[in-house]
Amino acid sequence: MKHPAPLVRLALAVAACVPALVLHAADAPGVPLVLHVDAAKVTAHVSPTLYGLMTEEINYSYDGGLYAELVRNRTFQDDPAAPAHWSLVQEGGGAGAITLDRSQPLNAILPVSLKFETTALSGNQRVGVANDGFWGIPVRAHTRYQASFYAKAAAGFSGPVVLTIESNDGATVFARAEVSDLGRDWQKYTVDLTTGDATASAANRLVLAATKPGTVWLDLVSLFPPTFHDRVNGNRVDLMRLLAGMKPAFLRFPGGNYLEGRTIATRFDWKRTLGDLSRRPGHMDDAWKYRSSDGMGLLEYLEWCEDLAMQPVLAVFAGYVLDRTAAPTPPGPQLQPFVQEALDEIEYVTGGPETRWGAERALDGHPEPFPLTYVEIGNEDNFDRKPGSYDGRFAQFYDAIKAKYPRLQLIATTKVRTRTPDVLDDHYYRSAMQFYADVGHYDDASRTGPKIFVGEWATREGTPTPNMNAALGDAAWMTGMERNSDLIVMASYAPLFVNVNPGGMQWKTDLIGYDALTSYGSPSYYAQQLFSLHHGDEVLAARAEGIGTQEWQPPRPRGGGPLPAKRQVPTLFFDATRGGGVITLKVVNPIGTAQTARIELAGAGAVETKGRTFVLSAPHPEDTNSLGEPTRIVPVAGEASGLGSDFSYTFTPYSITILELRAPAP
Ligand code: AHR
Repeated sequence: MKHPAPLVRLALAVAACVPALVLHAADAPGVPLVLHVDAAKVTAHVSPTLYGLMTEEINYSYDGGLYAELVRNRTFQDDPAAPAHWSLVQEGGGAGAITLDRSQPLNAILPVSLKFETTALSGNQRVGVANDGFWGIPVRAHTRYQASFYAKAAAGFSGPVVLTIESNDGATVFARAEVSDLGRDWQKYTVDLTTGDATASAANRLVLAATKPGTVWLDLVSLFPPTFHDRVNGNRVDLMRLLAGMKPAFLRFPGGNYLEGRTIATRFDWKRTLGDLSRRPGHMDDAWKYRSSDGMGLLEYLEWCEDLAMQPVLAVFAGYVLDRTAAPTPPGPQLQPFVQEALDEIEYVTGGPETRWGAERALDGHPEPFPLTYVEIGNEDNFDRKPGSYDGRFAQFYDAIKAKYPRLQLIATTKVRTRTPDVLDDHYYRSAMQFYADVGHYDDASRTGPKIFVGEWATREGTPTPNMNAALGDAAWMTGMERNSDLIVMASYAPLFVNVNPGGMQWKTDLIGYDALTSYGSPSYYAQQLFSLHHGDEVLAARAEGIGTQEWQPPRPRGGGPLPAKRQVPTLFFDATRGGGVITLKVVNPIGTAQTARIELAGAGAVETKGRTFVLSAPHPEDTNSLGEPTRIVPVAGEASGLGSDFSYTFTPYSITILELRAPAP
């Protein structure tokens, strides 16, 4: 966890805040607000990869989230003491028992099976095992679900087994199928379950019921709804559509703290996430304290990229783990296996099928290599307290990767002196005010060093998903990133997902919320979407007069100390880009009063009087979206008239405005 809004840096940044803007006190009456854009002066080119995604297994992002598997604890390893999320169904006097069994493993990788004994069953009685899913099993009308399970029957029992998707009380059966002729050896059984007319609901379960007394062992019990692009072992459709709506250019994976784990054994060990699900052991995500099925494995991340036309930004484990008592693996021979692991991983992603790991990928079903430009060495290694350790570790990875893959761009997670990284990953988790005070952070940053990847950032206001005030903080910060996107090659909000059910959230303030059935984008999601969808490829010179300020009390430094002096922060933020004959102005009004600005466009040639607007706003900064009100705050598209090279425009309270002016290049 990191809150790197270093206050020292903040103090400097506030002095330099939005240097292109002349700040006036908000109470200075009569100073007109003027935004000047010089369309003849291009200050930077917008990075085509500026807006992307960061992801990891946190907040039930994959299991119980994007990864469409509906059965929770499908391999019975979540809890060594009991079959968590499984229960015994005994109806009408039928009787049975379920126990975890280590004496009948499916294989060495999945060592625990569920022993399901039916001791009394006749007439209308029923005995079965039920899975409660990730806070329910979503049911939709006329939908085909694919169920599969491994089973092994004891002598005297050969089925059939009846599978049902049914309401939690068993009163309503939405879909039913039978599997007969269970064998004495482990075997995989698959069957479709199709619903008829049904009202969408989530308070449901999957039941596998016996039809006669006997014993059967079960493992890897799975149920998938239709997936995005009909991928086998694929992703949830609604969440993929929300992501597609942001047109993300890249995906940073697999973390975050999830990459590191608390110990080496619990890092994201990509080799153990490959191939058939029966070969994946899963692992304890001890960074976020629940087990990961690793159904979302390395190949699935890459296919996710493929499905949304994103480029992968691959983070490789670099020897640092979260357990502060464990020193990072020192550079040298001890680190070398992890360097080799990273080289193998890059080969799995990019190698032809003639290479060792490219062949493995082909066997896994994807003969074509994936494109790869960026590899990140570790995560947040600024937390490594051992002096010089990351310097040494980074150098060892850098040299080995560059020797084999000279074209790859290597990202350092904190400053290093031993090598010059191609890119540096900066993280910011802040309040809206902190962002307002620091929007100019990169305006004067060096252009001669590494490029910047703002690999994690968010305004942390609102929970489980950010509110309108957070979206305003985000948007203000994005104006600063966009106008500096000659330097900032990529940026990604974090975390991306949260399952909003009780116990689902480990990190407050996440971009997209959901339960088993539905999902929604937060106001910050829509702010991201607006910025990602509406920008040109050239940044235009811009400055302002008459922007007011508001007073801000910065928080006490972490670790104590006196309260810092109050500061004045601007009350309007903007940037301008051009592309395809359109000048795009982005203006953020973070305060509760409308602000009218005169907008002067120099060197723009003939500007059409009509243009398009997209406005995200809310009456109150605390307003937000939720499962119950998923679209309370969404962008509103409109037409603006009376535009030109000199016009006035009123920005509504608490608003993010995209103003698209048609101005064919003069
Ligand atoms: O985004 C949540 C966490 O914040 C990430 O896992 C970590 O990199 C950062 O501290």
